[in-house]
Amino acid sequence: MNIMILSVGTRNKIVQYFKRTLLGVGNVIATDASPLAPALYEANRYYIVPRITEEGYIDKILDICKREQIKGIFSLIDPELSLLARNNNRFIEIGVTVIGSSIELCEMSLNKWKMYQWLSSHGYNCARSYIDKTRFYDDVELKKMFYPVFVKPIYGSASVSVSKVYDRETMETYWRHSKELMIQEFLDGQEIGADVYIDMISGNVVSIFTKKKIAMRAGETDKAVSFKDKKLFQLIEQFVIEAGYLGQIDIDIFEVGGDYYISEVNPRFGGGYPHAYECGCDHMKLIMNNLSGISNKKYIGAYEDDVYGMKFNEVVTRRKVNIL
Ligand SMILES: Nc1ncnc2c1ncn2[C@@H]1O[C@H](COP(=O)(O)OP(=O)(O)O)[C@@H](O)[C@H]1O
Ligand SMILES: [Mg+2]
Repeated sequence: MNIMILSVGTRNKIVQYFKRTLLGVGNVIATDASPLAPALYEANRYYIVPRITEEGYIDKILDICKREQIKGIFSLIDPELSLLARNNNRFIEIGVTVIGSSIELCEMSLNKWKMYQWLSSHGYNCARSYIDKTRFYDDVELKKMFYPVFVKPIYGSASVSVSKVYDRETMETYWRHSKELMIQEFLDGQEIGADVYIDMISGNVVSIFTKKKIAMRAGETDKAVSFKDKKLFQLIEQFVIEAGYLGQIDIDIFEVGGDYYISEVNPRFGGGYPHAYECGCDHMKLIMNNLSGISNKKYIGAYEDDVYGMKFNEVVTRRKVNIL
């Protein structure tokens, strides 16, 4: 059974873990648009492919799937998630399962405003948000909103252009320089990350790993500690089932005054997933089972708590790389 990981970039650990799980039964095939993506060299075989925005990209991926007898495919970057979901039928036709959520959920997860509307209309705690600056100013007048607030692009990732804003003057400066911004209530509390697997066959939430974030770097969790709370597991399960996510997802949550607030979802392996794996949440195995037609048993919270995760950098060297 072979698996293909698209846009692997620097996610070497994800490739390593899959290779470990597939040892003796299959290969990991990796792709990236850049020959300088280090995770390529971790895989059993790799392909340098066009950028996802180029015409014919999906045809090329389908060709590789056929040649490599791929059973399951997923991407590690946000803009590719919707593309895969949109072409789901073309993959099914050649016997390939896209491990991921529906097109609607992929698009909602990328759009922070849509996500906010869904969360608030379904009764989940979340940071009060605005895309209309005037409405926000009105609510400040009415003392419904208070500075500081967070300002961020509606379609943002990796913390790019996310700022804490303390006054109207600074707010105006941000809005002069950017479009499609969102203003959000400041959640003053503990940041939490959840790595969740939703069984692709049964639709059940079968694994949840939660951690408290201690330090962030370049928009990713750099240091964190695992913990368990039944109340949080229940909230995650309810939210994920109600929204209808499938496969691997990563959720950002805040704990403020004993209440949990859902912030955002990445419907893919998050950058912090290795912490979950190292604590015992082997989601690669869950994926392999699903691809073999086996649904997984519910095993929520099956990991060690109080385990600290600390990231570090590594380097890959190659003498000859064909820079296109
Ligand atoms: N409303 C908020 N309250 C407090 N901190 C926030 C808020 N929004 C964002 N942040 C901080 O900024 C980071 C990035 O924001 P986020 O909305 O997760 O965007 P991205 O898609 O770039 O990860 C968060 O991990 C958190 O540290
Ligand atoms: Mg985030």
